[in-house]
Amino acid sequence: MGFSKWVFSFLIFQCIVVNFLQSESTFTSNEVEEIPKYFLNQTQKAEVFYWMVGIRRKLHENPELGFEEFETSRVIREELDKLGVKYKYPLAVTGVLGFIGTGEPPFVALRADMDALPIEEMVEWEHKSKVPGKMHACGHDAHVAMLLGAARILQEHRHKLQGTVVLLFQPGEEGYGGAKRMIEAGALENVEAIFALHVNSGLPVGQVSSRPGPLLAGSGFFEAVINGKGGHAAIPHHSVDPILAASNVIVSLQHIVSREADPLDSQVVTVGKFQGGGAFNVIPDSVTIGGTFRALLKESLSRLKQRIGEVITSQAAVQRCTATVDFFDGENFYPPTINDENLHELFSKVATDMLGSRNVKEAKPLTGSEDFAFYQEVIPGYLFFVGLKNETRGNTGSEHNPKFMVNEDVLPYGASLHASLAVRYLIEMGVKNLEQDRTHHDEL
Ligand SMILES: *[C@@H]1O[C@H](CO)[C@@H](O)[C@H](O)[C@H]1NC(C)=O
Ligand SMILES: *[C@@H]1O[C@H](CO)[C@@H](O)[C@H](O)[C@H]1NC(C)=O
Repeated sequence: MGFSKWVFSFLIFQCIVVNFLQSESTFTSNEVEEIPKYFLNQTQKAEVFYWMVGIRRKLHENPELGFEEFETSRVIREELDKLGVKYKYPLAVTGVLGFIGTGEPPFVALRADMDALPIEEMVEWEHKSKVPGKMHACGHDAHVAMLLGAARILQEHRHKLQGTVVLLFQPGEEGYGGAKRMIEAGALENVEAIFALHVNSGLPVGQVSSRPGPLLAGSGFFEAVINGKGGHAAIPHHSVDPILAASNVIVSLQHIVSREADPLDSQVVTVGKFQGGGAFNVIPDSVTIGGTFRALLKESLSRLKQRIGEVITSQAAVQRCTATVDFFDGENFYPPTINDENLHELFSKVATDMLGSRNVKEAKPLTGSEDFAFYQEVIPGYLFFVGLKNETRGNTGSEHNPKFMVNEDVLPYGASLHASLAVRYLIEMGVKNLEQDRTHHDEL
């Protein structure tokens, strides 16, 4: 193309494309407020929407458990290849790390989890799980589709990004500590902040919720063996009864939260396992108990752990038993999910620009856990909920339930929130770095 022709087409281009969001320059801080609505509009277009729906349904039909997400990971890579997005693979067995933008700092990460649950699906529909005993009952199929949706929209605007967006597809969120393994594999290298979303069946579609500070509890598990001395039930004085000792241990464990914890600092100790004895007239040698403990603050969680150990061994000793307590070497130990305050501000602005302030809700903290917390131990992170509920479409069941159903209308919201958060983070970091440069030069 000759130069004059080029200038001519450039002028035409400028005249036709009045929408600055479609211009070729980088995103600027003046247009940040328009981006969320624009991205939502783009992802609601039939072409993008049904593409996400297709991915989600494909994953839904073929659910894979933690660290077995080989096919899921393959689908993700295939889509990234089609989009022309570069990635690293494998990390932590099946994990994928995509990169969009300049390849230079700042780096901001968006995370989706890939694994399903060992649940038999009870929803009868065309795209029901084809794998017996396995089901996407926590919406991770939708999480993956939404992150790919974000990838598509970001890739379309890659020349306008002032930094790099890292797409983090992780294995094993459901109790496997996949996040920890991704970090060990270097997934957070250079990354300054990370966002993740979770679908929420209790929140209407078109609404989001979250909060700064503790959002989800940290959790741990314990198992204890209480050893006595077995014998005939009719002559208890010749035995050391571990059943009675274990019963008192369980009652004493309840005192930790009710008598030792600050009532305004929510905590839970639950014994969910009690195994011992097999006959009406025999005192057994030992009893095994086990359970979980939860807290919204890290210090409270480690205090619970310490006191559970002390209470079990001491209370068992009161009744002449010995006890061993196993915390599984901190495997299964999840820190609380604590949202960064600055990222909360950023999220509130983006979500309000997209949905209006009345659709941006303050979430109550929950005592469930998320392995997203592991990322937040390393860098500032932010987790938020995206609503699924639409009563006119009927009940969709709740998460981890065999009747759980994702309302696919959520997909554009999640995709565009992901993409808008990343873009806005990069813009704000760019502005901040400029300011820092300026003060730095002033100092010189
Ligand atoms: C996106 O925006 C265009 C133009 O502003 C509008 O005509 C279209 O209906 C919007 N699409 C959706 C899905 O909202
Ligand atoms: C809820 O579902 C109805 C019926 O399918 C649909 O018309 C409506 O747009 C949905 N609402 C939202 C907010 O997506």
